[in-house]
Amino acid sequence: MTRILPLLTGAAVLSAALLSTGAQARTLKEIKASGTIKIGTNAEFKPFTYFEGKTMKGFEYDLGNAIAKQMGVKAEWINQPFDGLLIGLNQNRFDLVISSHGVTPERAKAVDFSAPHYCSGGLIVSRPGGPKTAADLKGKTVATQVGTTYVDQIKKVTGEKNLRVYPNNANALQALMSGRVDAMVNEKFYGLEALKLNGKKLQQGEMMFQEKLAMAVAKGNSTLLSAVNQNLKTVQANGTYAKISKSYFGQDVRCK
Ligand code: ARG
Repeated sequence: MTRILPLLTGAAVLSAALLSTGAQARTLKEIKASGTIKIGTNAEFKPFTYFEGKTMKGFEYDLGNAIAKQMGVKAEWINQPFDGLLIGLNQNRFDLVISSHGVTPERAKAVDFSAPHYCSGGLIVSRPGGPKTAADLKGKTVATQVGTTYVDQIKKVTGEKNLRVYPNNANALQALMSGRVDAMVNEKFYGLEALKLNGKKLQQGEMMFQEKLAMAVAKGNSTLLSAVNQNLKTVQANGTYAKISKSYFGQDVRCK
């Protein structure tokens, strides 16, 4: 059974993140000396980071590995729930977070974001006959993942009482498929993947909003941040990024 989490607001999550700082983030030099960069992600987000059996895969997985390679280190991936990732970063459980975080002013108070590694947004998905536009969502129950930017967007159109937050995306999708909610709002490419897998049981609605997605380092970790930005630029210039992007999305998803 799905347990619906209490409504943790972004603000509550982030004030916890801010309070938990203290330990010192590893500098680029320290990461290089250790030979390994630790990257936190929520790997149930196909096609970004996900598991096929015991193997992690995805656009962000390949991109993170390409950036690590440019830095001359190995990537060690740590999988954990989405709403704990920025907190974990400030507790130095990892050096870098790559998990499709939309850049928001609120998050930017707690962590430092890289240049965006792709541009996308929130897509409405429902069952045939269900809501397809933001206007249609008014008065309908809508599922999404806890701690995400979709939460605020959904609240704006249908109000807090119609919002259903789930610990992960698979639970939100399951709630939609089984008729417990009227719609789901999620990352565009996650939604398209769900549509591909579930054929006629689901229908595609409109894009609700656009966002820039970026990688995060602990606040003030400037040596690591500039290395990440510089290496992102390199893989975007040398064809690596385009190749990875096309293999997952059939298109280049960098911000234009
Ligand atoms: N883009 C959304 C946000 O910034 C959702 C990201 C969810 N990512 C994940 N790996 N589950 O909040």
